Amino acid sequence: MQWGDEGKGKIVDLIAPQHDAVARYNGGANAGHSVVVKGERFSLHLIPSGILYPSKLAIIGNGVVLDPDKLQQEIDGLRSRGVDTSGLIVSSRAHVVMPYHKAEDAAREDSLKKERLSRDGEQSSVVSEIGTTRRGIGPAYAEKVQRSGAVRVCDLLDPETLREKISIAIATKRASLVDQPGVAATLDVAGVTDWALHAGENLRPMVQDTTYLLNNLVRAGKKVLFESANGTLLDVDHGTYPFVTGSSCSVGGIGPGTGVPVQRVGRVTGVMKAYSTRVGAGPMPTELTGDGEDGKIGDRIRTRGREFGTTTGRPRRVGWLDLVAVKYSAMINGTTGLALTMLDVLAGFDTVRVCTKYEFAGKQTDRFLPDSASLSAARPIYTDFPGFSEDVSAARSRGELPPRARAYIEFIEQTVGVPVDIVSVGPDRAQTITS
Ligand code: IMP
Repeated sequence: MQWGDEGKGKIVDLIAPQHDAVARYNGGANAGHSVVVKGERFSLHLIPSGILYPSKLAIIGNGVVLDPDKLQQEIDGLRSRGVDTSGLIVSSRAHVVMPYHKAEDAAREDSLKKERLSRDGEQSSVVSEIGTTRRGIGPAYAEKVQRSGAVRVCDLLDPETLREKISIAIATKRASLVDQPGVAATLDVAGVTDWALHAGENLRPMVQDTTYLLNNLVRAGKKVLFESANGTLLDVDHGTYPFVTGSSCSVGGIGPGTGVPVQRVGRVTGVMKAYSTRVGAGPMPTELTGDGEDGKIGDRIRTRGREFGTTTGRPRRVGWLDLVAVKYSAMINGTTGLALTMLDVLAGFDTVRVCTKYEFAGKQTDRFLPDSASLSAARPIYTDFPGFSEDVSAARSRGELPPRARAYIEFIEQTVGVPVDIVSVGPDRAQTITS
């Protein structure tokens, strides 16, 4: 419901038992889903969080951009900790993040930064580096749309097609990348082809037509949980463009990203944090920064919430809850229930603020402004709540929460117009309120 890192991993892990399969439909190894089971922390990037249940299928759909090295690392990591990964299935039509995509991502970010510094050094609201994860996500999706040289998982199993596609892709990139440091290996057709063939052999046992698989499951009355990556406000169409990722992170991405018609989607659980965070550049109206009181509150939330990226380790930008944004996300996704996470982090503040409107172009509005230039000119208008001092991490029902925390939740429900079905008060599976 926000800019990613809302705690989707934990919520997926929590509701996975009610499903037969968990499927990812967008993004790639840019995502970072943390799940804590019996005190043990698992960080997943590509593999659906449902993998932690041995009986579930964990499906990587065609809409994902797949980095085979990262996938293998994740599989090895899980196996070494005794997790059964035999339920993992990969779409034959998922696009592959190739070594040159990561080189392109880094080169593009570096040149955007250089360009910005040569202009005025200021972070521009429209053109500056995006602050990507440098995992090759944008270039891999761009290649998919450009078509000719794009490599899909099925191509990894077909040496002739593979060699041809890699030659085409490298031929079109050589001129722009050749002067970049450390990229020579990514432009070596033979070397990249060998790497890709090896990746294909590792993947072969997992590769299937996941579109038929998923539709057959749905037709047979099985329950599938579609796990989104990143966040609605990073959606390439509906997010704070151009500071977004390369995929459709909202529910609308399920159709193209899996081949399952969106009208088959029933419940939509919108995962949201009790405050806001963002990694990378782009507008964030409620951000708490600076040397004054706001910056101190931001630092405190960052430390208490361990707000450092699962994928890149970067400190996350922190701000008060922006309900204008969440309400917009609920509209885009058709959210039927909210899962509110990190409520425990807000304990101990005298006042807790919630943005309910923006002031923009001299007027007040309750509309989100999904364009970076407009949103960066918006000023948040807050409703203030008295904070709650009690530690809430041991609460297991709403009734056990302090009245002020309950009032905060009720205000979210009323403003967004969607019930809060789940409240998370700590990282462990057990630290959850569902009643
Ligand atoms: P990219 O997805 O690596 O291209 O990065 C684009 C923007 O999305 C950057 O601001 C990233 O920090 C952000 N981003 C991508 N994936 C995630 C995520 O899973 N959580 C939070 N931010 C993300």
